[in-house]
Amino acid sequence: MSVSFFIKIKQPAAAWLIKKIQKYGPHKVRVSGRMYEISENVFNPRFYYTSEFMARHIIVSFQDSVLDIGTGSGIQAITAGQRASSVVAVDINPEAVSFARRNVKAHGLEDVISVIEGDLFSTLEPCTAFNVILFTPPYLEGRPDTVFDHALFDHDKALIRRFFKEAKTYLKPAGYVQMLYSSIADPEGTLKIAADLGWDHKLVVSQKTGTEHFLIYRLRPQE
Ligand SMILES: C[S@@+](CC[C@H](N)C(=O)[O-])C[C@H]1O[C@@H](n2cnc3c(N)ncnc32)[C@H](O)[C@@H]1O
Repeated sequence: MSVSFFIKIKQPAAAWLIKKIQKYGPHKVRVSGRMYEISENVFNPRFYYTSEFMARHIIVSFQDSVLDIGTGSGIQAITAGQRASSVVAVDINPEAVSFARRNVKAHGLEDVISVIEGDLFSTLEPCTAFNVILFTPPYLEGRPDTVFDHALFDHDKALIRRFFKEAKTYLKPAGYVQMLYSSIADPEGTLKIAADLGWDHKLVVSQKTGTEHFLIYRLRPQE
């Protein structure tokens, strides 16, 4: 079956389901033993599998500085912040920023994690660089209409393209990007964009669920 078949059938179904869960699902959730508070407009880390799957595969050391792009509830920043020396968490959705800050505080990690509002790297201090950049991008085809839609839609992979154009500047030597993607969103096309922009990738782990395969990649600038 072709890539476009999956996009036409599976993506609208996924978007419909996610919006229902956002609206009617609980807004205080436990993931891997930690509590997170969210609102209807903040990506729920409990129900889509991706958040917990990514969090389980974060490997950072005590010296590492970490950037979490698209932090949502803050789950990846909070997971990395248990060990890393510092974490910066960014989200374009102001409501996500506010809940991520609240969750960081509830986990007592305000000294380690700063949460800032911004579009990708645009609000970072110039010349900041990180050992690890974490990124679970929106990957469904469509244009965001609401603040929450930023968690779902990346029209024509424009965000992915921009991310891989800009991310190199923010990586320390030997640093890497850890990105989660899905089989229903043409991962090959995404990896081709990254490769054309000078990135090598390695699949770290994949997991099949009822609807799709989730894939975690590490990407490094080509030498
Ligand atoms: C799929 S959610 C992942 C949330 C969280 N990282 C997790 O694992 O649960 C994607 C997140 O990226 C954010 N986002 C989308 N476009 C962004 C951009 N241009 N800059 C910063 N954050 C963005 C969304 O608001 C959303 O919170």
